[in-house]
Amino acid sequence: MIQLHDLHFQPYLSTEDIQTVVSDLAKQILLDYKDRTPLFIGVLNGSFIFLSDLVRSYNGDCEMSFVKYTSYEGTSSTGTITTDLAFPSIEGRDVIVVEDIVDTGNTLAHIYKQLENANATSIAVASLFLKPDVYKKDFKIDYVGKEIPNKFIVGYGLDYNGLGRNLPEIYQLNTTQND
Ligand code: IMP
Ligand code: MG
Repeated sequence: MIQLHDLHFQPYLSTEDIQTVVSDLAKQILLDYKDRTPLFIGVLNGSFIFLSDLVRSYNGDCEMSFVKYTSYEGTSSTGTITTDLAFPSIEGRDVIVVEDIVDTGNTLAHIYKQLENANATSIAVASLFLKPDVYKKDFKIDYVGKEIPNKFIVGYGLDYNGLGRNLPEIYQLNTTQND
């Protein structure tokens, strides 16, 4: 059990569990993109560790870049999204947006809006985690590492109010301890 700010979290996925999910995703993507050079675009801050492991597992030519938005405060989405770092030029590129986790899908909807008129050759989304019980949008998430229950998680890039990103494993909010 660990504590970040006021909340307690329990171990959920080990580093081995995560690496299996990430390398399976990389293999899946390589099968689809083996004749192309995809441009991985990581959504900061949460995806920075996932992206770095994903590209190191990706056994083919690829490029990478980043965008940054703010939507979360505490353990729930605020619904308002601001752009802190905008998209690079994606004209003629095979773009793969890399997300740490898709929750409500608000961030993804915002990203799609920015991408749709930028003349990319193709656009795909890879997310390490998806909360299917919360996700209510129609945008396709092409590559999902793991579907998880609607519980707040931290570690491996994911934070609770700034803390927990450096944890190598994933931890889940412990509802009994926090009640
Ligand atoms: P959405 O816009 O509601 O889909 O939320 C997307 C962003 O919120 C993700 O990219 C994360 O940065 C953050 N987020 C959503 N769920 C969690 C969670 O369980 N732990 C930590 N961050 C989360
Ligand atoms: Mg994020």
